[in-house]
This record gives sequence, C-alpha cells and structure tokens, in this order.
Amino acid sequence: MSRTPIIAGNWKMFKTISEAVSFFDAVKGKAEVAGVESVICAPFTNLPALVEAAKGTSIAIGAQNLHFEDNGAFTGEISGVMLKDLGVKYVLIGHSERRQYFAETDETVNKKVHAAIKHNLVPIVCIGEKLEEREAGTTKDVCKVQTEAALKGLSAAQVADIVIAYEPIWAIGTGKSSTSADAQEVICYVRSVVAELYDQATADAVRIQYGGSVKPENVTEYMSQADIDGALVGGASLEPNSYIALVEGAK
Ligand code: 13P
Repeated sequence: MSRTPIIAGNWKMFKTISEAVSFFDAVKGKAEVAGVESVICAPFTNLPALVEAAKGTSIAIGAQNLHFEDNGAFTGEISGVMLKDLGVKYVLIGHSERRQYFAETDETVNKKVHAAIKHNLVPIVCIGEKLEEREAGTTKDVCKVQTEAALKGLSAAQVADIVIAYEPIWAIGTGKSSTSADAQEVICYVRSVVAELYDQATADAVRIQYGGSVKPENVTEYMSQADIDGALVGGASLEPNSYIALVEGAK
C-alpha cells in the first residue's frame, strides 16, 4: 500500500491576512510537487483569503481547531459546518498546545474527530508524549492511550482516511527534534495499535506524520523512514522558501 506523503504547515497564531496572502503568492506553483500533498493550517481569520488564493492550485487549506457541535451558544468557537462552508479541507485536532493551554482532553479530541468527519473535513489528529513521560519510558503507552481514545467509535474506512501526527511535546519549538529512528519506532508502534484496533489494511492506509522541529535540513531524513508519511511543521513553515524546501524534501 503506498501512502501519499503529506507536509502540513501549522502556522499557529501567526500571520495577518495580507501576510498570509503574500506567503501564498510566493509558494504557489513551487510548494506543489507531484506525489506530495501540501497543506497550510492557518488561523481562522486567514482561511477565506487562503481558500480563495488556493483555487486552481494543489495546495490544501486547513484550520487548527473546531468545536464538536454544529452550532449553539459557544461564544468564540468555530464549527465544522462553518469550516466546510469556507471550503477548508483539513483540520488539526488535539494539538499539544490545545491540550496544554486550552484544556482539550482525549474525550473532546474524539468528539472533534467525529465532528470533522461528519462534515467531510480530514482530521489531522495530534498525539505525543511529554518530556517526563519520555524520561519515564512511557512514550508508547501514552501514544496508545491517545490513539485509542481519538479513534473511538470510528469505522475502519474512516480511520483509513484520517491523518495522525506524532509530535513529541519536548521536540516542539525547541530545536530538539526526535531522531528519525526514534520517530520511526514510535510511529511504527502507533500503526500497530491501529492494526490491533482495526486490521492491517487500515493500518497500512492511515498516514502518520512526525512533527517537532522539522526543517528543510532534516525532512528528507524523516521521510526516508518506512512508517513516516510526512511532517507537521510549525516554525519552519512560516517562511515561503523554507516551506517550499520542506515540500520538495518530502518527494
Ligand atoms: P515546530 O516545527 O515549530 O517545532 O512545531 C511543531 C508543531 O507543533 C507543529 O504542529
């Protein structure tokens, strides 16, 4: 089973609309490489302009969060209905910064995954261990619990189409990336968890990215690992030439 590599930029809370549009003008036609999927996950305010700019290109646009209800009295929240209405394709769910600073739990992550799928958005579900958990040797246990919780209630066909991003928290924004061998070991294990929960075909189909201090200089090394299907990139996705190099490096 061949899986299409996927590079996703997570801009976090960066870029105004005009900055987003000039970034897009600079990467258009360049961060579009045959055989690699290219995704920009931007702040909500930039999404309409980016969806418009992305028309006729192969670059997909994603959000960084959604609420699990379709609508209601949830001040400040954005739903899957609204994202679908905008023409967004992907949505990040359960990023560690949302788990850490905005009280997301395995349960809300699961509800959000269901909401995304209900509205034909592709969830990029983030999992990963804290430094203390890595040091205590519980990385795989933590990733197993998070994966099982996130996928609860999904069918095999639904799981085959989602993306999982393994991001060890200690490697995010620190410049301390996981070695490609370590990332491969954990991602291979997560794939085996999917195989246990579903079947081998589903495990072979689901795409699993690595994230945490990925840069143009190390992306190819990660991509050379059998189970790593792409990268979720923060800092190095903000500058056009760096983003283009990441997509090229994933070929
Ligand atoms: P950095 O690439 O800046 O380490 O961020 C990783 C990340 O959190 C992507 O979601």
